[in-house]
Amino acid sequence: MEIEEILSKRAAIIDKAIEKYIPRRFSENAELFKINQPRYAYNLEAINKAIAEPVWEFLDRGGKRWRPVLFLLICEALGKKPEDYVDFAIIPEVVHNGTLIIDDIEDASELRRGKPCTYKTYGLDIAINAGNAMYYLPLLTLIKNREKISPEKLSRVYEIYIEEMISLSLGQAMDIAWHRGLANADQLDEKDYLQMCAFKTGTLARMAAKMAAVLADAEDKLVEKFGIFAESIGIAFQMQDDILDLTSRNFAEKKGGYGKDITEGKRTLIVIHTLRVAKKEDRERLVEILNMHTSNPKLVEEAIVILKKYGSIEYVKDFARRIVQESWKEVENLLPTSQAKEKLKAFAKFLIERKI
Ligand code: IPE
Ligand code: IPE
Ligand code: MG
Ligand code: MG
Ligand code: MG
Repeated sequence: MEIEEILSKRAAIIDKAIEKYIPRRFSENAELFKINQPRYAYNLEAINKAIAEPVWEFLDRGGKRWRPVLFLLICEALGKKPEDYVDFAIIPEVVHNGTLIIDDIEDASELRRGKPCTYKTYGLDIAINAGNAMYYLPLLTLIKNREKISPEKLSRVYEIYIEEMISLSLGQAMDIAWHRGLANADQLDEKDYLQMCAFKTGTLARMAAKMAAVLADAEDKLVEKFGIFAESIGIAFQMQDDILDLTSRNFAEKKGGYGKDITEGKRTLIVIHTLRVAKKEDRERLVEILNMHTSNPKLVEEAIVILKKYGSIEYVKDFARRIVQESWKEVENLLPTSQAKEKLKAFAKFLIERKI
């Protein structure tokens, strides 16, 4: 499949760019120290053990790298050479990996990308600190390249970063509050879910798209349109993620088995739909199992059977498809015909048809 090919081809280039700012081993020549020189001493061993090592162990596990690919496709669709933007494209990707390290702590997860979560291997202290460092380290690229960007554009890029990072925390807050059974978790409607996803998953796609559009000289209106498009496909991506958790062996195995979202007590759209249409008895049982936070395979399976009984997986799949179709209509007419435009369309489709 073409998009998977693009993803795997770009991954190595993206990782090389990340290495410029987060080296596999920090030395005194690291970019970081040119910008931020230590006053007293270089504690390289500590930084390597507590940042470089866990960060690269995590990055080397793989990951689709779809956020920088979206970034580069938008630059290309706007008539620019993607090669010139790779350093900037790492910003949403490194941040994304940082959020995963932190998210796994918040969700008490066991496995990520088929291996024990970073906090399990390296400890909470290292995982929290390294995850947080990943929110800021990729911004070094903006400092290093500041001469090449106009002050207005640079300031817009920083604003986008701040706006989206705040939204991301709001999205995590909603997800966490609901899976803990706080804040009316059982009376949520579709709009609540859509907003949570827009914040939680849409934000880094928005960040990628908007930064790309600003840096590729798009007008403000177009920047906004790309932002909305990316947010929408991010929401659809999250829906597919929720579906795969219940339906794909390959996907679920990397997280330790089917139905981790049931164990977590997550209020996905699949759950919200069932709670809306199911009969009382099923509704109550589903909520009961979600609130148990159980890993018992029998109970998890019982919850999945209830969700399937009401066609909720198909419902969400259709919803995701509709979101992608409608969001594409919004940007379709804004771009001249090009190969990159076609790739962008295929990319949006990939996010919801993917099995990985
Ligand atoms: C996982 O994102 C977290 C969600 C927002 C659902 P990805 O599926 O993009 O993670 P990697 O980087 O490919 O592992
Ligand atoms: C991850 O959300 C989103 C962020 C890290 C911002 P989830 O908790 O839904 O993702 P998975 O299922 O652990 O990959
Ligand atoms: Mg999680
Ligand atoms: Mg989470
Ligand atoms: Mg998930």
